[in-house]
Amino acid sequence: MIVAVDGPAASGKGTIARALAAHYGLPHLDTGLLYRAVALTLKRAGGDPESEADAVAATDFPATLLTDPELRTEATGALASRVSAHGGVRAALKARQQAFAGQAGGAVLDGRDIGTVIVPDADAKLYVTASPQVRADRRAREMEQHGLAADREAMIAEIVARDARDMGRDNAPLMQAADADLLDTSDLTIAEAVQKAIALVDARVERHR
Ligand code: CDP
Ligand code: CDP
Repeated sequence: MIVAVDGPAASGKGTIARALAAHYGLPHLDTGLLYRAVALTLKRAGGDPESEADAVAATDFPATLLTDPELRTEATGALASRVSAHGGVRAALKARQQAFAGQAGGAVLDGRDIGTVIVPDADAKLYVTASPQVRADRRAREMEQHGLAADREAMIAEIVARDARDMGRDNAPLMQAADADLLDTSDLTIAEAVQKAIALVDARVERHR
């Protein structure tokens, strides 16, 4: 069983994908981390994010980088959104994601183009979203929990800018797949969102039988 979870920044897709993986006993891949690793590698090498050659060179990052705390910052997320617009970067990361999805028993993957490009024949697809205000509040709360000051207005502006870049690019833009179920988590607790996600996936898998 392959489950594709896509959606914009801080929509809750990672939390939902992790919970689905635990519920169904499947492995989970947060594909955003791969793009974040490319961004961080490019930054540390002094590369130019607008240069496709520099960005593609940065796809050759060591697996150990995937646990670097700097991957989680909004600055790395914003840089990931710039490097991920290059077709060459997306092509370089594609086989790795498809191999993960194809393992025996299945998998849960979350990102931007899982249901549209990486596994278009996934058994269930969720498009998770929430209002920019709610998403900015969630990110601000996360920062405060880590002892960092958070400017909510600046956070909303960053999230809206990142959405626009991810939805407006030519290569694999963020969009709801025609056969994806929409899950708006704006007014849901994590437990409610997970419960709805499981119900939607179960209904899809039933229909496939
Ligand atoms: O993966 P994505 O960036 O879409 O979001 P996430 O990391 O799953 O969630 C972002 C933050 O929102 C986390 O701190 C979650 O605990 C929180 N969250 C929430 O408050 N309510 C939800 N329904 C889902 C997530
Ligand atoms: O957790 P959050 O939603 O903030 O970001 P992420 O999922 O870690 O993704 C960071 C950036 O990588 C996104 O803004 C996208 O530009 C890019 N990305 C992508 O293009 N395709 C994916 N499958 C996953 C992430």
